[in-house]
Amino acid sequence: MKRTPIQKFYFDISKRYEVVNTCITMGLDKPWRRKAAKTASSLGGKMWLDMCCGTGDMSADLNQHIGQDTRLVMADFSQEMMDIANSKPGLEDKDKTLADAFNLPFKDNSFDLVTISFATRNLNLGQSGLVKAFSEFNRVLKPNGKLVNIETSQPKSKFVKSMFHLYVGTIIKPIGYVFTGDKTSYTFLASSITNFLDPESFNEVLTRSGFSDTAFEPLLFGAISIHTANSQ
Ligand SMILES: C[S@@+](CC[C@H](N)C(=O)[O-])C[C@H]1O[C@@H](n2cnc3c(N)ncnc32)[C@H](O)[C@@H]1O
Repeated sequence: MKRTPIQKFYFDISKRYEVVNTCITMGLDKPWRRKAAKTASSLGGKMWLDMCCGTGDMSADLNQHIGQDTRLVMADFSQEMMDIANSKPGLEDKDKTLADAFNLPFKDNSFDLVTISFATRNLNLGQSGLVKAFSEFNRVLKPNGKLVNIETSQPKSKFVKSMFHLYVGTIIKPIGYVFTGDKTSYTFLASSITNFLDPESFNEVLTRSGFSDTAFEPLLFGAISIHTANSQ
């Protein structure tokens, strides 16, 4: 099977993905995801899609809030990442679909909620590329369905932003290299964080993808943002 460079990256690091994440974020990725999952689950609905679910951390957090008649579907284009999710308590029996975010194998108006955690930067760094993926999420959401996206962002304060970029530039590459022996991918990962959109520009992506009522909550002085939006 021919893998894209991103698929190959997750194929190579799937077993070390969570430990690298914990080291890079000093464990903060866990409470951030829990917060996004709590926000998402409070928005209701019975059909949830955790897109780019990876090893299932966000799905496991969503599962903590799931009602008896709610169905959680997980999707990712890396089978190796989803295999790890499969072994997590509570996720064994969830539907897992091998799918590309740009071409989802779901009918229009299928879901009440779509979540995506720390994967948007993998989809594209530019507005037009992201609009393609988020229009696809809009398509599979029912009218007035909810989108919750948690991703790195850009702090408003110039000082905090320069500290954040300094941290990313000096810490991520060595940690990634120590755990995986792969310098190139973690160089890309670090530059994708420093080059990603600020929250207002990401709101524009959502609006251009057909979403309304866009809003965001900054975490860690704006280094992370939880965006919410309604589908049309
Ligand atoms: C950084 S991981 C995030 C995993 C998980 N959501 C989390 O919070 O830990 C990014 C995930 O996005 C998936 N991914 C990247 N591009 C994708 C695409 N075009 N379609 C589907 N999945 C994709 C990768 O396979 C990987 O599992």
